[in-house]
Amino acid sequence: MNDEILNVKNLSKIYPGGVHAVKGISFKVHKGESVAIIGSSGSGKSTVLRCINRLIEPTSGDVILKGKKINIPSADINEIRSRIGMVFQSFELFAHLRVIQNISLGLIHVRGMKNDEAEKLALEVLQKVDMLDRKDAYPGNLSGGQKQRVAIARALAMKPEILLFDEPTSALDPELIGSVLENIRALADEGMTMIIVTHEIGFARDVADRVIYMDQGIVAEEGSSSIIDNPQTERMQKFLSTWD
Ligand SMILES: Nc1ncnc2c1ncn2[C@@H]1O[C@H](COP(=O)(O)OP(=O)(O)OP(=O)(O)O)[C@@H](O)[C@H]1O
Ligand SMILES: [Mg+2]
Repeated sequence: MNDEILNVKNLSKIYPGGVHAVKGISFKVHKGESVAIIGSSGSGKSTVLRCINRLIEPTSGDVILKGKKINIPSADINEIRSRIGMVFQSFELFAHLRVIQNISLGLIHVRGMKNDEAEKLALEVLQKVDMLDRKDAYPGNLSGGQKQRVAIARALAMKPEILLFDEPTSALDPELIGSVLENIRALADEGMTMIIVTHEIGFARDVADRVIYMDQGIVAEEGSSSIIDNPQTERMQKFLSTWD
């Protein structure tokens, strides 16, 4: 299909020390799709995301972005990171920089934008996540939910072709989760292509076009979000029953 953004092919990761975290998994993501990856702790979800944007190298298999293999030494890491955005559980903001600088820094250094151009774009994306009024704050003075919305804005500013979320709400106090999920839902509704690793099963059911259930390093079940209400495999049934 020509609207294919990402093709993960037979991906495996064995960590130094021998943990076989991902065992030959394959899936595709098409333009505008939101794909949720769910599964127990240790099933390999973060490992898959980290291999996709090359925070770590897969042991075997391929990551293909718009038809081009990116897990090769000659691939430009900066280019990959700006085409594949990532939002982490732990925000990863620079504590010594104001919100606006956290966003404009990458635009200036990776995208080569002029300061005022970068700042203009930073204000635009902050507006999108309702954080414009905190543009001059330092991350230390923001709530977890606000930090995560800044991290989302930072990823958006790079205009990625696909956005990866690794449990974006699991470090947040319960009352702060909703606003972050709303931002992500709005992006999905606007047609942003994304993969969301999440423990928020209800969110996955409501927002994802497709759900991938991982267990012990493999894709154990995959389908439309209806598989959450109607899982076919015993292991996914068992996994979901712990969420009731
Ligand atoms: N850097 C590492 N070195 C060695 N083993 C690792 C490393 N990172 C992860 N692992 C192991 O690989 C397996 C998969 O880990 P991964 O973090 O991908 O799981 P996960 O599905 O994201 O779990 P969680 O839901 O807890 O975040 C686990 O057994 C984990 O202990
Ligand atoms: Mg993880």
